[in-house]
Amino acid sequence: MGKLPFLLALFCCFHGVAFSYGDESVVNGEFELGPKAGDMKGTVVTGGAHAIPGWEISGLVEYIKSGQKQDDMLLVVPNGAYAVRLGNEASIKQKIKVVKGMFYSITFVVARTCAQEEKLNVSVAPDWVVLPMQTVYGGNGWDAYAWSFQADYALSDMVFHNPGKEDDPACGPIIDSIAVHALYPPRLTTKNVLKNGGFEEGPYVFPNISSGVLIPPKIVDVSDHSPLPGWVVESLKAVKYIDSEHFSVPEGKRAVQLIGGKESAIAQVARTVPGKTYVLSFAVGDAGDSCVGSLGVEAYAGKESVKVPYESKGKGGFKRASLKFVARGVRTHIVFLSTFYTVRSDDLASLCGPVIDDVTLISLRKPHLRI
Ligand SMILES: *[C@@H]1O[C@H](CO)[C@@H](O)[C@H](O)[C@H]1NC(C)=O
Ligand SMILES: *[C@@H]1O[C@H](CO)[C@@H](O)[C@H](O)[C@H]1NC(C)=O
Repeated sequence: MGKLPFLLALFCCFHGVAFSYGDESVVNGEFELGPKAGDMKGTVVTGGAHAIPGWEISGLVEYIKSGQKQDDMLLVVPNGAYAVRLGNEASIKQKIKVVKGMFYSITFVVARTCAQEEKLNVSVAPDWVVLPMQTVYGGNGWDAYAWSFQADYALSDMVFHNPGKEDDPACGPIIDSIAVHALYPPRLTTKNVLKNGGFEEGPYVFPNISSGVLIPPKIVDVSDHSPLPGWVVESLKAVKYIDSEHFSVPEGKRAVQLIGGKESAIAQVARTVPGKTYVLSFAVGDAGDSCVGSLGVEAYAGKESVKVPYESKGKGGFKRASLKFVARGVRTHIVFLSTFYTVRSDDLASLCGPVIDDVTLISLRKPHLRI
């Protein structure tokens, strides 16, 4: 046992590659360090598997600078000045040091390049997800996504692979930034039957990316864990994880924005005692991101539900709402979804919607007490 870390340490230093030590420390995760001039032909990396510092590449990989012309389109990279494009069947990988058994999220910022249906397979063996990229949520073409995995090995290959077989081999997703973040399983507290009700525990948010982080729905990410511990994204569209640095957030530093109308829902199964009365309380607001108009949240607790209308000026703000119900079973399905489909008034392109935060579920000790 003692020999392995030593050997790995040797391997590390011999190759001059530093391993990542836990949180947010992917080596060259923002691709700001590029190949040597002699290792490139135009934008194509020709210098072999180790030409991009920190990464092992295979297939047609391009190294792209922000401001570069791309089929008459100016490519502007959101984080830093460089990104990589994966052509057909191309991949990039890096060994990451993690703690066996722990949960991690990977946040990555991507754009698609051609009109064709592009996909990205993100994996840390044995977990993987194939992300379809036909829906572009952000107005500028770039989206940040999060995905989670449970570490089976202390040292794992994190792989980004384009499984595409497009006619134009240069079509394929562009990746700007990648970060890994440890997730701590949320504990139940005596104050709340729900876990992570304030959404404070979640994926890494890049400080320079102002678009929030998309959490793909369960139909895409079929694993039994989520980058938003405790919660599951149900229905068809992603939900957006937002931070107080870039958005208006009702409570704490993080919240969730429901961006896909009725196709954007977030859920948690709560343990309940049949016959007992519970109160589900939550904040509904807007993210201060020019999402203007009538927004609305529908909250469900089993078969009971409440609709909460919210008139948004797009400048931030929230109100509180609640739903009182009697539990029918030992498990109650709690769901939040957005009633309307809305786009931002400033770009008329980015999907937006109401924010939910500070979700608590408590049981009433005395059922006759009114609140
Ligand atoms: C993020 O923004 C800060 C402040 O503007 C800047 O100094 C830093 O270089 C940026 N980082 C990246 C990766 O662009
Ligand atoms: C995604 O990549 C992983 C690891 O390389 C692989 O095991 C898995 O089969 C791939 N999934 C698809 C649908 O190609």
